[in-house]
Amino acid sequence: MAVPVIMPKTGMSQETGTVVKWYYKEGEHVEKGEPLLEVMTDKVNMDVESPASGVLRGIRAFPNDVVPVTQVIAYIVEPGEVIGTPEAGAALPPEGIQAVVEQPVEKVGLEEKGTPVAKAEVAPVPVGKVAATPAARKLAQERGLDLTRIAGSGPDRVITKADVLAAAERLAAPVPPVAAGARTVPLVGRRRIIAQRMQQSAQQAPHITLTVEVDMTEATTARRGASYTALLVQVVAQVLRKHPMLNATLQGEQIVLRDEINIGVAVAAEDGLIVPVVKNADKKPLEAIDAEIKDLSQRGRVGKLTLDDVSGGTFTISNLGMFGVTEFHAIINPPEAAILAIGAVVKRPVVVGEQVVIRPMMNITASADHRILDGVAVANFLQDLKAALEKRPTLEVREPRQLVIIGAGSGGFMAALRAAELGAKVTVVEKKWLGGTCLNEGCIPTKSLVESARRLTHLEDMAEFGVKVTGHSFDLAQAMARKSKVVGWLVGGLERQLAEARVRVVMGTARLQDAHHVIVAKSDGSEETLEAGSIIVATGSQPTTIPGFEQAWTSTDALAATAVPRSLLIVGAGAIGVEFACIYAAFGSKVTLVEALDSVLPKEDAEISQGMAWLLQKRGIAVYTSSEVLSAVRGTVPGTDDWRVRVRTPKGEQSIEAEKVLIAVGRKPCSTGLNLESIGVAMERGNILVNDRQQTNVEGIYAIGDVIGKSLLAHGAFAEGEVAAENALGGYARMNYDALPRCVYSLPEVAAVGLSEQEAKAQGGAISVGRVSWAATEKALIEGQTDGMVKVVARDGRLLGLHIMGPSASVLVMEGTLGRAWGARLDDLIQVIHPHPTLSEAVSKAMLKAIGRNI
Ligand code: NAI
Repeated sequence: MAVPVIMPKTGMSQETGTVVKWYYKEGEHVEKGEPLLEVMTDKVNMDVESPASGVLRGIRAFPNDVVPVTQVIAYIVEPGEVIGTPEAGAALPPEGIQAVVEQPVEKVGLEEKGTPVAKAEVAPVPVGKVAATPAARKLAQERGLDLTRIAGSGPDRVITKADVLAAAERLAAPVPPVAAGARTVPLVGRRRIIAQRMQQSAQQAPHITLTVEVDMTEATTARRGASYTALLVQVVAQVLRKHPMLNATLQGEQIVLRDEINIGVAVAAEDGLIVPVVKNADKKPLEAIDAEIKDLSQRGRVGKLTLDDVSGGTFTISNLGMFGVTEFHAIINPPEAAILAIGAVVKRPVVVGEQVVIRPMMNITASADHRILDGVAVANFLQDLKAALEKRPTLEVREPRQLVIIGAGSGGFMAALRAAELGAKVTVVEKKWLGGTCLNEGCIPTKSLVESARRLTHLEDMAEFGVKVTGHSFDLAQAMARKSKVVGWLVGGLERQLAEARVRVVMGTARLQDAHHVIVAKSDGSEETLEAGSIIVATGSQPTTIPGFEQAWTSTDALAATAVPRSLLIVGAGAIGVEFACIYAAFGSKVTLVEALDSVLPKEDAEISQGMAWLLQKRGIAVYTSSEVLSAVRGTVPGTDDWRVRVRTPKGEQSIEAEKVLIAVGRKPCSTGLNLESIGVAMERGNILVNDRQQTNVEGIYAIGDVIGKSLLAHGAFAEGEVAAENALGGYARMNYDALPRCVYSLPEVAAVGLSEQEAKAQGGAISVGRVSWAATEKALIEGQTDGMVKVVARDGRLLGLHIMGPSASVLVMEGTLGRAWGARLDDLIQVIHPHPTLSEAVSKAMLKAIGRNI
């Protein structure tokens, strides 16, 4: 029995398919499931498999023929079997064409299912068995028009009289003669499908178009090497969540709001436009989207996309920025509700505040179906998209939101101030002190003692400058008192800032009841339950210790010493270990540093670490790297309570005596007692896991600062706090660690941003390095501070890392930080004029050297 081969329907919106080629000839045998012909849909080229084993007969659609979907285009028959002419009623009725319509439909050549195939002479059956109203058929006959070439607009694509009249009008239009020397290209294949669909979109969907200008300064950084298109896909998808009407389709009398956000990306292929789709783009990280787009585009260009790759789109982005196009209007991809046309990012002068500044600007034009969307809805969407790309949440919180922040350290107070600035009702819960570790027992008091140590160290060099200092002494109690005064000033300032911002501070220990309630246990034994739209956990970290060393100093004890120890053994040569080594060596202690890894400051560039080890030793500090403390006893040194510590060094075991031992082997997150586990917040070794928007896996709960274990730097926590606050209030901020500077306040300072030479090499590809020593820098010679160097690591003329050991390193690192933040090229950075003579010249010279110049 003859089995019909039909033009497949692969998607809701597909109305026709184009025959590309037949793999078998009329009369050839084919097996069921073998590719029979290639067809082109509006989206992809695909093979149509043979529906049965048998002989191919009655081919009625040929290469470049555009055929309505579900129409019969051939038959597979038994050997010797013949199929009848349409008049004889041979074809089985394909699904879809039989549908009941409002007007009576004449089904010429179509028979009911199961009608036996008439035995007759084999004759190719002409194309043309289409559903049409009798009036349409009559008119087509009168005008001599081929119904198979007319698209039906009636239900189930039945051709109506109006369709025939429209086609007649089109055909009657005079075809202008082709000028001499000109060529014609037939409108076939995908080009023809695009032509039809775009015409249909333009005719059916009344387009409104709105344009916004976006400052791409932030986005340029946020894309972290990903393409602009990838960044846009991610941000647009996230913004669409708030604007479901733009992620909708019109179906009959209903607007269908789609749950999934699948972003189509228009890609130019050889034979026209194709739109591969990034599915669930709102849930994917930027890197994944970038890789997916690269893969889809590449396969799209060579015709290797699958149907799945191009199906299911709910919104489309067309980016012509790479061609230098600054603004254009795109036509909606039916049946979607809107499309974005993205222009090039171009540096332009813009007014910011009262100044004209140069900014990378981009135009985004939305075309929307006015049947579904009004201008204001599209404008709101564009406004949110602009805010998201500019990393500037809408500066007005539409409904006042309750935000509870647990912990008033660096991250917590910054999140509180930012959220209050955005109009939220903010409560901060703190169990110990405002300002947390940084202000009370970390950065601020340590750097205050470093300042005392720096002044003491410089006294040694004074004579060289002609300043004779005699009879000086060091007063630890005074240094500590000054340190406490500085801390006191800053805590007072913080209190005032929070009060002025109307942030409520509740002193007590917090735990989460659920994702929207925090219980605070207060010192008087009472409890208060706080309601929260969102919660930000910012509980910080605490020093870790080593078994057997529980009685040793932590950094907190080292900041509260009442006497300078005769000798101090420091375990761990990270930032804390090295800073205290410099402090107490300057105060007069005999300092020994023991580090398990093979260098001091092991996270820094190897040259800098080696330089620092050398300087520490020059200052009389004993440095043991690749060494471990094994055990310790106290009180065995006659007449003292000193420690005797066994240390395994590369040269064998040693016994080191010290009045005090400071353990500086890292810090651990304060995440216990918060009830996070029972709420289901994901953690790893006590660190709360967050994404780049500081969101935990539980909606409405964010985490920042040391408790997430990422940077353990106060300024990292500030930035994370801002990001969390903005996102908790409906913004779209993301944390980027690429341009996070790190500073060690040793003597001299060490500061860095970006990748070390070793990290850059490990990434592969050629890199270049520029070095300038302080001994070759005028201002450093003038100041007598010639220890150390500036080192620039670059790839393809772009700054990867800046590493400085020497005077004011923590200030000078900002030039590299700006360069990293803006993705600057060294060519641009070296054009900035540096004053002479200054230390900053060394940074510029190192950059020059990194691009092969040597001035
Ligand atoms: P760290 O992780 O930076 O350094 C600890 C060091 O101890 C490591 O080098 C590690 O190899 C070593 N270590 C671990 N166990 C050891 C053992 N049993 N024997 C010998 N060595 C051992 O941690 P650190 O210095 O305690 O600082 C904690 C955090 O605070 C760090 O993330 C640091 O970046 C941050 N911090 C930052 C400062 C700044 O920016 N200036 C100042 C102070 C701390």
